[in-house]
Amino acid sequence: MSSFKPLVFSGVQPTGNLHLGNYLGAIKKFVALQDTNDCIYCVVDLHSLTAQLVHDDLEDQTRQITAAFLAAGINPKKHIVFNQSRVMQHAELAWIFNCVARIGWMSRMTQFKDKAGKDRENASLGLLAYPSLMAADILLYRATHVPVGEDQKQHLELTRDIAQKFNNDFSDRIAAKGLGVEMKVGEEIVRGYFPITEPVIGGPAARIMSLRDGSKKMSKSDPSDLSRINLTDDADTMAKKIKKAKTDPDALPSEVKGLEGRPEAENLVGIYAGLADISKEQVLKDFGGTQFSVFKPALAELAVAKLAPIAGEMRRILADRAYVDGVLSDGGAKAGALAEATMKDVRSIVGLQQG
Ligand code: TRP
Repeated sequence: MSSFKPLVFSGVQPTGNLHLGNYLGAIKKFVALQDTNDCIYCVVDLHSLTAQLVHDDLEDQTRQITAAFLAAGINPKKHIVFNQSRVMQHAELAWIFNCVARIGWMSRMTQFKDKAGKDRENASLGLLAYPSLMAADILLYRATHVPVGEDQKQHLELTRDIAQKFNNDFSDRIAAKGLGVEMKVGEEIVRGYFPITEPVIGGPAARIMSLRDGSKKMSKSDPSDLSRINLTDDADTMAKKIKKAKTDPDALPSEVKGLEGRPEAENLVGIYAGLADISKEQVLKDFGGTQFSVFKPALAELAVAKLAPIAGEMRRILADRAYVDGVLSDGGAKAGALAEATMKDVRSIVGLQQG
């Protein structure tokens, strides 16, 4: 039985400063996965045009995310690191997926509804089509596993829907050309050209919330800088933000159950667990019964110990712009070769003349 080779793909948008949520929710997982998998990590610059068309510093933001990947420990010699726009096949496959996906699927996406707001008619068509480009990013490499934050789960379900509809609608042509691959979906064995990708979500820090409001995601677009810890914050700033983080007056519980209904406490415990690579249970074993006046300084110390070296390394890497650009260019060449092999098949399946 031929089956898909395990391959990890993920992407990060080059907009704004990277914060703790990006690091714990995504980049740290990318680093962990590279020991046991082939990985492709992409700075998705085309995606950043969906909400805002004109950027002053998109190229530098792209370099920053690249430097963060490298500083966190991603090895660009063993794996592929590149920016999306270098590989035009992303846009080509996205177009085909625009014709596979239904408008109804797209307009149900909560991220679209949130970002488009009340004036939906005035949102860019790209914002609506965003998940179709994301599906193209992943399926262009026929990736099997995608590490992402909790908020991207719905987009991954849509990626699976697109793969499934493509496999179904073109099943005869895929079979006739001998391009079908067997795969297990649930309990069933099916054949198709694209894999039904699995999300890799979870861990104690899958969802990092704002330090000011435990019901809102930590976000680069929050107007209050106190709401987030940026990777590039200095030690004093990190300590100040953690000290000012919203909490309730009670001591920490000794069991995870005791965090229910205490979103701010749960968030800080999750951050500690994520940074220390331990479970929330373990954090509470160590800190259950202590007041935030004790826990917060411990958390600040841990955050500085874990993040300051990465920020320092990022600065060092960014100073060598030619090196960063070289990584993206090498990665783009490697990704481009894989992408073109897929697109040759896809053009042939769809019936686009290329002989
Ligand atoms: N939509 C993702 C986010 O905003 C970024 C992204 C684009 C992505 N393409 C991807 C993530 C492919 C994983 C796989 O975080």
